Amino acid sequence: MAFGQLLRSHRTRRGLSLAQLAERVHFNRGHLSRIETGKRPPSVGFAEACDRALGTGDTFTAIASALEAAARQRQGWVRPAQLPVAKRIFVGRRDLMDRLDELRRGHERSLAVPVAVVHGPPGVGKSTLAVHWAHQAVSDGHFADGQLFADLQGIGPGTAAAPVDVLKDLLLAVGVPAERIPAGLGQRAATFRSYLHGRAMLLVLDNAADARQVLPLLPASPGCAVVVTSRTALPGLMCRVDAVSLPVTELCPAESATLIRSAIGEARADAAPDAVDVLAERCGHLPLALALATEHVVSRQHPSARPLAAELESERARLNLAAGDMTLRDAFDASYRTLDEPSARVFRLLGRLPGGRFDAADTAATAGVSKDEAMRLLHRLAGAHLIRHRDERHYHLPGLLRAYAADLSRRLDGEPERAAPCPVDAPRPAPSTRSVSSLVA
Ligand SMILES: Nc1ncnc2c1ncn2[C@@H]1O[C@H](COP(=O)(O)OP(=O)(O)OP(=O)(O)O)[C@@H](O)[C@H]1O
Ligand SMILES: [Mg+2]
Repeated sequence: MAFGQLLRSHRTRRGLSLAQLAERVHFNRGHLSRIETGKRPPSVGFAEACDRALGTGDTFTAIASALEAAARQRQGWVRPAQLPVAKRIFVGRRDLMDRLDELRRGHERSLAVPVAVVHGPPGVGKSTLAVHWAHQAVSDGHFADGQLFADLQGIGPGTAAAPVDVLKDLLLAVGVPAERIPAGLGQRAATFRSYLHGRAMLLVLDNAADARQVLPLLPASPGCAVVVTSRTALPGLMCRVDAVSLPVTELCPAESATLIRSAIGEARADAAPDAVDVLAERCGHLPLALALATEHVVSRQHPSARPLAAELESERARLNLAAGDMTLRDAFDASYRTLDEPSARVFRLLGRLPGGRFDAADTAATAGVSKDEAMRLLHRLAGAHLIRHRDERHYHLPGLLRAYAADLSRRLDGEPERAAPCPVDAPRPAPSTRSVSSLVA
């Protein structure tokens, strides 16, 4: 018996009208009717909802899966596998990997598409986590219809990728012929959703600028999942879609030491074990700094971590960590450049505050602004992950970001006495945007 006929027979046997079943499966009555009359093919998500509503085990799911598999072969469905290469060394992050697994599992029986927003400061390991988890999920047999990866270039030297262009690449990747890709954003987004309908696909959107950039790219079909990485928590996304926020912070000291040991090798690490801990500390336990430092040790064939650990006693040397075209300072600059002038100035001045912990009152006094303005600026900086909440009232500048802010302030704001508190009702003029950008350019 065809899917539609079987569905009608189960429905009528239970005395349900079309409208009643439509309500239970959360699809509209017209859609249900067209499937019953064979005018529209059922998706696997729809079939799963029918099995749940009618208590038919996996009867409908199995038929719909078989129908889809056959249709896929007919349509020449391309199974993309776009994940970037995973690195051999991956430490820590067990809690975040578990949260991502839970999210995937929790949505297996839901009609919503899970969206995980992995966010945190520059170089903390957001992309690495997303890619590592994605490879793990695929090797566990999930997302069998393919995996898509898009670099949204949200923060970096150029401009953020336009969703309309990203959609074109995604459509090409799933096998839509170039001549059948529509021109407008809305149509491309709808075509993308149609192509992914009923498929178990993973979409990794790396380095997103904001929620507006992400929204048109989201699939709507149950069975799909999305992991987005960003240097902000993407405000405005969670109230529109089923998004979960996964903040990422630096590694703990033991994990940093493990990373260093794995990267430089046990022989070098054992040659000066105390230097491994010092190096981890001087890298602020930030994965990007650790990766740059360990490449330095290996490529210069240092016998142990000691010479570099000693070199990094200077904060300036830490900020100048680099390997090839990757530098720590560039990564920080990219976030700093997104700030408006008042936030940028406050960020720099906070880097010079002794004690490392500050609240709105400290900030107001340091920057010569009102307390309300200080709160607004602190909120803005925390949103960009350039400062972090320490407790309900206080913030701090994590690890190397304090050294970075202080270094910028020395160059842009002059000597400490110029950065000293000034009266709340007489704010000092901020340096011009030109001088700031020319220094970080
Ligand atoms: N858990 C980890 N274990 C080992 N190495 C890691 C880990 N996380 C990150 N790294 C290394 O740190 C470097 C920076 O990581 P990654 O690019 O993922 O950071 P990010 O947060 O995405 O940075 P950005 O903010 O610039 O996008 C990479 O070289 C990566 O290999
Ligand atoms: Mg990244």
